[in-house]
Amino acid sequence: MSVRFRAVNWTRHKLVYDAIVVGLCVAFVAAFIGVSLAAYPDRQPDQWIPTLLMRALGTLALVLLHVILAIGPLARLSERFTFLLANRRHLGVTLFLVALLHALVVTGWYGGFGVENPLVAVLVRPGGGVGFEFLGFLALLVLLLLAATSHDFWLAFLGPAAWKALHMLVYVAYALVVAHVTLGVLRSETSLVLPALLAAGALALGGLHLAAGTRELKRDAATPDRADDGWVDIGDAGDIPDQRARVVCLGGGARVAVFRDGGSLHAMSNICSHQGGPIGEGEIIDGCATCPWHGYQYNIADGTSPPPYTEKIPTYELRVRGGRVQVNPEPNAPGTPTQPVSIPSDANSEHAG
Ligand code: HEM
Ligand code: FES
Repeated sequence: MSVRFRAVNWTRHKLVYDAIVVGLCVAFVAAFIGVSLAAYPDRQPDQWIPTLLMRALGTLALVLLHVILAIGPLARLSERFTFLLANRRHLGVTLFLVALLHALVVTGWYGGFGVENPLVAVLVRPGGGVGFEFLGFLALLVLLLLAATSHDFWLAFLGPAAWKALHMLVYVAYALVVAHVTLGVLRSETSLVLPALLAAGALALGGLHLAAGTRELKRDAATPDRADDGWVDIGDAGDIPDQRARVVCLGGGARVAVFRDGGSLHAMSNICSHQGGPIGEGEIIDGCATCPWHGYQYNIADGTSPPPYTEKIPTYELRVRGGRVQVNPEPNAPGTPTQPVSIPSDANSEHAG
């Protein structure tokens, strides 16, 4: 995309997704408050309901943060979760808004009754210094930065690498939130339920990231079979399902996606120019390899995005030797047209259609 601001394209799919997310958030807060009221019928509702609202919104923000952090490794581990990536940024903005509501209710309730500025009253201890609330405040600032730069304009303006590095700050937000909740809850609660849930969440997220990372490293470490002149064997073309791709590691972390379109093959970089998504895990739609993460498309003949888009990715040359398909590991310049390679006739019958 060019560095020109375009408002969010509200497709029907996105509207339905957002409506479901908002519905689930409202249901979560209502259930949290309803169950707590039923569990503690003796408490004064005028004191108890604002506290429950603060807690419900804080807990919801925490849950959303875990879901967002789990989506990336889940999608790396199984294609079944790939669809969750498409709207992850909407989920991130929802997280920020929920956390902001939590902070506003806290500030109004704990800071709104004195003569002092409510934010100062909440963040600064009477004798000076700050407490666990300040860690929540810092986390909120990080979430604000991420939500504000989540639009594609900022992705194009900063470039995918810098944008991705900036959005890695979500892990800083996570650490700040964990510290905020641990210190805040341990201050008043004797129950270990929330700390135990936090520890379980951290272990689950750590385990998922470790499993996904190990799998990627193993894939990249695999040494491909090479012909004498260095071309890399991609195996039997008949094994590639029609309109899908096989991803081959070329060594040194480079990956190529070899797509099958009926009886012919085309090769291009596996790395999407949007956010580095795995193009080869997508499929051919309207003659274009379509990235499974957010739907960016690249013409299979030359690696260029269809107009009005202007992205280009490197293409690769293919050839057939002794019935085996091979790829030249040297990439062509982004957007270079390539000749399609016909699949050997004995391979055509398998997996086609
Ligand atoms: C300006 C920013 C923030 C302030 C001033 C703040 C303040 C507070 C306060 C005072 C409490 C204790 C509420 C009570 O039980 O009486 C609390 C709890 C909590 N906060 Fe925050 N917070 C902020 C940001 C955040 C953020 C960004 C998150 C998560 C993304 C978060 C998640 C939570 C959670 C999970 C709890 C515990 C809820 C429970 O006890 O069930 N907070 N916060
Ligand atoms: S990474 Fe977003 S479309 Fe490919």
